[in-house]
Amino acid sequence: MSSAIDFARQHQSRFLEELKALLRIPSVSTDPAHKADVRHAAEVLAAELKRIGLENVRLIETDTPAHPGGHPLVYADHLHAPGKPTALLYGHYDVQPPDPLDEWLSPAFEPTERNGNLYARGAVDDKGQMYMHVKALESLLVANNGQLPLNVRVLLEGEEEVGGEGIATYVASKPADLAADFALVSDTEMFAPGLPTLCVGLRGMIYTEIEVRGAKTDLHSGMYGGAAPNPFVALAQIIARLKDESGRILIPGLYDKIIPPSPEELAAWQSLPFDEEHYRLTEVGSSTLVGEPGYSVLEHTWARPTLDVHGIMGGFTGVGAKTVIPAKATAKVSIRLVPAMTPTETFAQLSSYVQSILPPGVEAQVRLIHSGDPCLIPVDNPYVRAATAALHEVWAKETVFIRSGGSIPIVGDFARNLNLPSVMMGFGLPDDNLHAPNEKFLISNFYLGIESIIRFLELVGA
Ligand code: BES
Ligand code: MN
Ligand code: MN
Repeated sequence: MSSAIDFARQHQSRFLEELKALLRIPSVSTDPAHKADVRHAAEVLAAELKRIGLENVRLIETDTPAHPGGHPLVYADHLHAPGKPTALLYGHYDVQPPDPLDEWLSPAFEPTERNGNLYARGAVDDKGQMYMHVKALESLLVANNGQLPLNVRVLLEGEEEVGGEGIATYVASKPADLAADFALVSDTEMFAPGLPTLCVGLRGMIYTEIEVRGAKTDLHSGMYGGAAPNPFVALAQIIARLKDESGRILIPGLYDKIIPPSPEELAAWQSLPFDEEHYRLTEVGSSTLVGEPGYSVLEHTWARPTLDVHGIMGGFTGVGAKTVIPAKATAKVSIRLVPAMTPTETFAQLSSYVQSILPPGVEAQVRLIHSGDPCLIPVDNPYVRAATAALHEVWAKETVFIRSGGSIPIVGDFARNLNLPSVMMGFGLPDDNLHAPNEKFLISNFYLGIESIIRFLELVGA
């Protein structure tokens, strides 16, 4: 056994306690009230990277006039393996908001062990997975007297969950600091427990707000109701025309550029261990699944675009009753993109379609909050081969290659701007409740993930 793995095994409980400390920091990137907490998480990580022996550790500020409120990047490197490849290890230390709070069995920012899982916001997405990288590096450094089997750069971001504009700008400037041969990203899931998985495709997205305005001010609904336009009704009518009942998006041209998966990829998905009824009952928990006829669940979520409404704001939502016709109503609406859709074109299509279906008496504004491109990862390279070999050693199974319906905007930017292939080696599980109450990380996956990353880096450097 590699002595780095030996070290990792001997220090499992310390690693877990350190992760708990990180999870206690409520680094919610979308909420300005948590700005200092997000920075605190960055500082704690920078200090830990320094302690384990990484060099040039620093925070890279992204809070600029062009990007107000941006959260810092954490950078570190260790470049003392001449002739060996350079890895760029990416992760994000920000988390989604914890609400609805009353549905958590233990508080979101008090990490709690139950049934072999660690429950907390960020446990798996992505603090727990990002921290596997840090602990793999620590184990390798200790086991090799301060050396690593390859060159390593670490880049952590604090605004992945809000679109990653800061890191995108930094990566687009192609800094010498990011010169590398491949990226390692642990922010995805295993297809099933115990089944080693590499993710080779992500959906992109545009996240928008549709604001509808009617009267110049809020109005008494008795005095004006029937004559004044109601922006909530208009917004509902607009939303109802974005998708038909089968789930097909009605925006003209939206499907024109889609490149379907190859017959080989579709055949590979067919042979994955997927039970649609189990998925419906245990993961979704609805009476039926929806989606365009003629596609499987995996195609719906991995290879087709989707449009979702996340919330509708405005008007009166307090306790009791208020008879008002609000002057405006706003909906948060996103579209997930698949290759070769682009955020720019999709946003233009959505905006002009909304203008074309406006009910009488209202105006609409469609605003882009953030966006990211879809990506497909090449698999025919030595890094993916080393990853499958490492996973085979640790999990004693052949790796499955999947796509994911989620988005990690920077992965596409790594390919486009830095020409880096990414290895997306994730250890989340389908029932980990990402972005939901009771998010968790299977503790044994945290440990085996560290071992997988150690072996992967050792094999790439061998
Ligand atoms: N780690 C997730 C994405 C993910 C989840 C990939 C599950 C594969 C499997 C990431 O943190 C995330 O949630 N991204 C956001 C995108 C962002 C632009 C808001 C998403 O997908 O909603
Ligand atoms: Mn994530
Ligand atoms: Mn997330």
